[in-house]
Amino acid sequence: MRIALFGGSFDPFHYGHIELIRGAIESGACDIVIVIPTVNNNFKRGRILIPAPYRYYMAKAAVEDEFSSNVLVSDVEFDFEGITYTANTVKKVVSDGFIIPFLMRNGVPGEKAAERHSFFWLCGSDILPTFDKWYKPEEILSYAVLLVAKREGDDTDIYEQGARLKSLFGCDIAIFAMNGIDQASSDIKQTGSYDKLPGVVQDFIKAHDIYNTITVLDHCSDETCVKFYEYAVKLYHYLSGKRLLHTLNVGLLSAKLAHDHGEDCDKALIAGTLHDCAKELPMDEQKKMAEAVCGELFVDDKLLHSPAGAYMARDMFGIEDQEILNAITYHTTGRGGATMLDKIVYLADKIEPSRTYTDLTEMRKFAPTDIDSSLRLCVMSVADKFKRKGRAIHPVTLDFMSDLGL
Ligand SMILES: [Fe+2]
Ligand SMILES: [Fe+2]
Repeated sequence: MRIALFGGSFDPFHYGHIELIRGAIESGACDIVIVIPTVNNNFKRGRILIPAPYRYYMAKAAVEDEFSSNVLVSDVEFDFEGITYTANTVKKVVSDGFIIPFLMRNGVPGEKAAERHSFFWLCGSDILPTFDKWYKPEEILSYAVLLVAKREGDDTDIYEQGARLKSLFGCDIAIFAMNGIDQASSDIKQTGSYDKLPGVVQDFIKAHDIYNTITVLDHCSDETCVKFYEYAVKLYHYLSGKRLLHTLNVGLLSAKLAHDHGEDCDKALIAGTLHDCAKELPMDEQKKMAEAVCGELFVDDKLLHSPAGAYMARDMFGIEDQEILNAITYHTTGRGGATMLDKIVYLADKIEPSRTYTDLTEMRKFAPTDIDSSLRLCVMSVADKFKRKGRAIHPVTLDFMSDLGL
């Protein structure tokens, strides 16, 4: 098969990306396109790009909505440590050890998946003038042919640039014509014109309120921002998509609430981001970890992930700060004598933007100015649910409620 690899930040995924992919397939230049969101190249630019899991799941939603099985999305870059370069990504994707199982997982029959494939790097003509400045361009070209879109009214002289690259690297480029939908992620973000994006992308952005909440990083230190981006990638390996995006939302909302209430945004960002890190570990592992943190205090399966999360945050993410670890331990129950950080993470967990389990309007309204009022509404709503289900409220939650005057 002829397989085109299409890498990018996709921040956000827009119609320009969709038309580029459609153009490549409809022109007959390739059989399959694999969309590869960049992951680790954004640490230093943390305040420009949203974390990789948001971009990956956004691209996946858009691709699944627009195309059939001939366009796939790969999470390959989540496996790389440190900064990722296109040359390394292409090298890995074209290897039999990667591409054959990847295609088979995506419904391509084994025999066809194991064929000898030819690979392309799909791109707009705008990359040509600077392609030779990329990291190891000759290595990229040893694995893949540049498959370049020629838009109507394109400023770049593709043929001249093609001749230049041929003289430098001895490579040919492949060219296809496409309809020129001219969208740029940076323009969309700058003008806030998210309504010009595909419907599923708009829904995704609204559900997570991501381009608003990400601005809270302006109140966090560079060091914490770097950690936040690193943790987002690391957590990808432990949590399913919905849970992962929830934990990142909680991190960002915790940092925002900390800023609103004059608390430490850095600690809130880290505590919120890691609060559910142990949620999808096997129960017996969660139990062991929880016991190591607080003995027999929590025995209910639904509560174990909180202390287990504190254990994992220390053990695997290197968190030593006891305030952060406590906020993780008590994020499900609250506790008597709760700190502001405990309250922030507890509340952010229940009202982050993608939560829809009940009407959260009032809780969200009070949260930035009167956190205890918001918490009272929140804890009462949880207590009502417990009553309806005949579940007992944990003693530490009763202490928490008592402190809130409930
Ligand atoms: Fe939780
Ligand atoms: Fe949670």
